[in-house]
Amino acid sequence: MVSDKVARAIQSRITTIRSGRHNLARGYTGLLMKRQSSSQSAASSAAAAAPADNPIVMRVTNFKETEASRPDFDHSKTPITVTKSPDPSWSYGDGARGRDPATRDTAAHIEVDPYAPDRSMVSNYRLLVSGIAPRPIGFISTKSADGKSENLAPFSYFQVIDHDPPMFIVGFSSRPGPPKDTYRNLSETGECVINTVSEDMIEAVNATSIDAPYGVSEWDLSGLTKAPTTTVAPARVQESVFSIEGKVVDVNEFKDHAKDGKSVAALVLIKATRFWVRSDASNADYSHIDLDKLRPIAQLGGMAYGRITSTFDRPRPRWNDEVPKSELLRKLGAV
Ligand SMILES: Cc1cc2nc3c(=O)[nH]c(=O)nc-3n(C[C@H](O)[C@H](O)[C@H](O)COP(=O)(O)O)c2cc1C
Repeated sequence: MVSDKVARAIQSRITTIRSGRHNLARGYTGLLMKRQSSSQSAASSAAAAAPADNPIVMRVTNFKETEASRPDFDHSKTPITVTKSPDPSWSYGDGARGRDPATRDTAAHIEVDPYAPDRSMVSNYRLLVSGIAPRPIGFISTKSADGKSENLAPFSYFQVIDHDPPMFIVGFSSRPGPPKDTYRNLSETGECVINTVSEDMIEAVNATSIDAPYGVSEWDLSGLTKAPTTTVAPARVQESVFSIEGKVVDVNEFKDHAKDGKSVAALVLIKATRFWVRSDASNADYSHIDLDKLRPIAQLGGMAYGRITSTFDRPRPRWNDEVPKSELLRKLGAV
């Protein structure tokens, strides 16, 4: 079995990689060389071991029955509708006018201490994933340091956080047993491809979240197609409309919440090195992706996913343009 000892050995080597990462290539070559020998032996001993059961993965007993009673997915590809915004005549100071009067004035908020002794981690998980929704899914492809095993897994503690430079974050939850394969590969190699998730691939993407033992390729179990990359070793997903090759610039482990027998939780910061955009889904200068072609899937709470069928626009306000139109802004700006 892969022991927590092996996992902890890998973990303890990761902590040093926070500084001096502005030069990606130099930072990661050094890191890789330091880690290669221990990770190779860890990889081979880990290959056969399945991770321990993760309490946040819900056990569902009669899902097929439940799903059979629901309407079919609408495959009509009706163009995404663009409507007016909910309250187009809103003006400065109006607040949330559209709020349901039944809850606007009466519903109280309950204070919850996430660290209370009787508060479970699973309750925090369920509250957060249902309350911080929708979340985009980063579908991440990585390779092991020895290049022998390939990994693919979805992450919705994921976000683009800047465009100049193009930067992304991924959050890894702790779980019983060794660190997630994606985290291990990212930490050891510093390379990945972030792929988008569209409606027509969600079952395959969801399947790759299986807790397969290290070394089992989720490419094979999903049936998704590998496509070439140029600046990183892992493949990108051909079925994704948009893929981003990226290199790790920082890893931040949440040591204060590390628990015996569980992998440490962590944040990984990734800088893009290449974009791959599907030609029929983008405009001539590759500066826009058509939502009707992207058909992105969001993760919601519980086991739920969401699709976008309707959007609306709201122009971003500029102070200098808006002040002449609003007495309230003039008053606020007069201080
Ligand atoms: C849609 C979706 C989103 C997920 N998001 C995350 C996440 O943000 N962080 C995380 O640690 N696990 C997340 N998971 C669980 C991982 O995908 C799962 O633990 C997977 O087995 C990790 O694979 P790996 O060990 O091959 O890296 C998510 C699962 C699904 C289905």
